[in-house]
Amino acid sequence: MTLTCGVDVGGTKIAGGVVDEQGTVLEELKVESPATDAEAIEDAIAGLVTELRTRHEITAVGVGAAGYVDKARAVVMFAPNIAWRDVPLKAELEQRVQLPVVVENDANAAAWGEFAFGAGHDVDDLLLVTVGTGIGGGIVLDGLLHRGAFGAGAEIGHMRVVPDGIRCGCGNRGCFEQYASGSALVRDARAEAVRGTPEARALLARAGGDPLGITGPLITESARAGDPFSVGRLAELGRWLGEGIASLTAVLDPAVVVIGGGVSEAGELLLGPIRTAFVAELPARGHRPTLEIRRATLGNRAGLIGAADLARR
Ligand code: BGC
Ligand code: NA
Ligand code: ZN
Repeated sequence: MTLTCGVDVGGTKIAGGVVDEQGTVLEELKVESPATDAEAIEDAIAGLVTELRTRHEITAVGVGAAGYVDKARAVVMFAPNIAWRDVPLKAELEQRVQLPVVVENDANAAAWGEFAFGAGHDVDDLLLVTVGTGIGGGIVLDGLLHRGAFGAGAEIGHMRVVPDGIRCGCGNRGCFEQYASGSALVRDARAEAVRGTPEARALLARAGGDPLGITGPLITESARAGDPFSVGRLAELGRWLGEGIASLTAVLDPAVVVIGGGVSEAGELLLGPIRTAFVAELPARGHRPTLEIRRATLGNRAGLIGAADLARR
């Protein structure tokens, strides 16, 4: 049984885990992501791998990175929410840990994880949507991970959904992730709290009266406790997601859409509104087989499990 290490580098956290051939995580470690400093991120990744290696025999490392990864799976060309511009991550990490390293886009890695071991194990075609700091996409077609001609495929977070809309970290305006990500959820809830909207009072109180205390997990917690404002914020996010997924389905025709990322922890509070909007917006609805929208079963570990598996191939 060979073990590989999977690392998921997000906008807020870096998670590293030791994974076996069945996709089981034997040990996992997490650190805050030093998102402003590329070298600090490399050191943090190397630190996680080095520590895990003291207890497990690891043969390779797979890194899921929240950005555009080149076709050679070596260089992060660009990351909208992390300080990465043409970073030779594979070379930097191989030098630090002295093991073979494969770099993959984080959402691609998560899609692979869910396809191989999770919510998409029973199909050949799936779309994975991660809802977190940004919106990530991963596409498996005919059992193969779709990377595009230059490695930059499946960047669904940067589809334009609003002409002249909100400015995005990619440089454009009106991108999907400015409306349907965890960051958008938090940004809008905080804005309502700052504005003194009466409906936002219960959530603000839960945040100790400080709008900056409003986070994604807090909104989910508050929605679970029945706060209508928080329920409504998640439903609004779900509506954006469902509509976007309906358009993506027009292109990809997947068997299953898997919803992952931190905000998917909200479960049906998010999935229900996604399904409703999807069904209402699907082109040619009623005249085509309906796909299933499922929650990621590997949760936030999908990326590291997928990256670890890709590293052994
Ligand atoms: C990035 C993607 C990434 C996604 C989720 C987007 O902003 O462009 O590369 O997969 O966020 O982290
Ligand atoms: Na992707
Ligand atoms: Zn964008």
